[in-house]
Amino acid sequence: MSRRNPDSSSLTRRDATKFAGAAAATAVFAPRIQTVKAAGNQLQYAVIGVGGRGQYHVQHFNGADGGRCMAVCDIDDANLKKGQSMSKDKPEAVRDYREVLARKDIEAVLIATPLYTHFPITKDALLAGKHVFCEKSLVFTAAEVHELRKLSNEHPKQVLQVGLQRRYSQFYQTAKQMVEQGLIGRVTHVYAQWHRNSLGKTWSPPSWRVDKKKSGGLTAELASHQIDVADWMIGSHPEFVVGVGGVDEYKDGRDVYDNIQLIFKYPGGQKLMYSSISTNHHLALFGSTRTQFGEMIMGTDGTIHITVGTDNEPATAMWFYEPGPKKATAAGSGKEKSAKASSSLTSTGKGGKGLPVLMDKDKVTGNESFLEKEMKYARMWLYKKGVMVPEETKNPVDVQLEAFIESCKTGSKPKADLEVGLEDSTNVILANLAMDEGRRVYMNEIDKMGKVPAAAAGAKKG
Ligand SMILES: NC(=O)c1ccc[n+]([C@@H]2O[C@H](COP(=O)([O-])OP(=O)(O)OC[C@H]3O[C@@H](n4cnc5c(N)ncnc54)[C@H](O)[C@@H]3O)[C@@H](O)[C@H]2O)c1
Repeated sequence: MSRRNPDSSSLTRRDATKFAGAAAATAVFAPRIQTVKAAGNQLQYAVIGVGGRGQYHVQHFNGADGGRCMAVCDIDDANLKKGQSMSKDKPEAVRDYREVLARKDIEAVLIATPLYTHFPITKDALLAGKHVFCEKSLVFTAAEVHELRKLSNEHPKQVLQVGLQRRYSQFYQTAKQMVEQGLIGRVTHVYAQWHRNSLGKTWSPPSWRVDKKKSGGLTAELASHQIDVADWMIGSHPEFVVGVGGVDEYKDGRDVYDNIQLIFKYPGGQKLMYSSISTNHHLALFGSTRTQFGEMIMGTDGTIHITVGTDNEPATAMWFYEPGPKKATAAGSGKEKSAKASSSLTSTGKGGKGLPVLMDKDKVTGNESFLEKEMKYARMWLYKKGVMVPEETKNPVDVQLEAFIESCKTGSKPKADLEVGLEDSTNVILANLAMDEGRRVYMNEIDKMGKVPAAAAGAKKG
């Protein structure tokens, strides 16, 4: 399909309206949110692991419709007490997760424990008949990839959802729509970074996060989200990965890398270039108004800069036209002049300012009142000027929790399901292997890895 590639400076209101129409398609992806509190139809769940993330979930569950927290569980008494006090539902506080799983009135569990414990707890929960929401990265070892696939497939009626919340973001769903509609052409590269400046921060040993026997390091903790975004946007899974990592700054006894640089190659030739460092948090995307993390989805006709929000900053997504050479003109067609003019435009290196990616609520449908329509145009104008930014109607974390409740009740398939989670974990495990062994690791190597009896795998990990 040939596509006119307008220079962003010549963008008209009509272009903006057309784009608003593209964003409108996200309504298709928007998860169905319950709006009525069904007193007799509350999903009864427990949160296992109420450290940083678990407490965040307990608080966000408070605002979710359709569920009731029956228990919180942690081996750490201080966290257990804190997690319990944060829930509106007065849940029981339990130290041993097996006691939670033994309760017949609990239908579902959310697991937010350290990575090395994800699989054993998820396994026990599935065997106990519970629906499971497990934080990313879903599993820790190659053996667990195979075992969890088998186990989950043996329990098809139980939901398994992974905490990859970008899948539940309206912005990311809009970006995916734009990719599918060809608005940025053929995606050839994704660049993603999560750069922190942790200088001065010490880890009180033995934090599980910096211990290779318990953690996948930056690859599992941070990159996992963004590798999943690349898979989703590119629409396939990587063929191989190469990478370099090191403990180059933080000589505090850790054995997980404090900086990683990875390149994933996809079967269609696309690449994900990934970087996570701990000594500088500059983010060049969004005119450097943000720090730390974001992704850049690069197509032959345009680019999307995107990131999720934090507690203090809204999610942001910008769309850039690619002011490139126009379609080659056949010699003698009399159009050589315009082709030359276009290519001279390219040679100036003229870029575009970028347009905000619009949410459904911002689109002009034609059904609104005169005033509403004027407001929408005005808002779009303000977005374009950078005075305002579009915002998601809901935090994707809330959306993912409500979607989990919904899936448990209806059996609907989660957007971040078992296969999304296992693919993501495979990418993480093999990227770490590529850095550890200093070689190109092919993703199909996972098929031969970790095929050992569960008991032996458990003993090895011990
Ligand atoms: N999706 C996201 O954006 C996101 C963000 C942060 C963390 N996470 C994930 O959440 C998980 C937890 O991270 P965190 O930052 O909360 O770590 P954390 O160390 O703050 O909390 C983990 C908690 O689990 C408890 N725990 C450990 N073993 C347990 C067991 N057997 N039974 C019950 N409780 C146990 C610990 O005592 C601790 O309170 C990790 O997998 C992490 O990657 C996801």
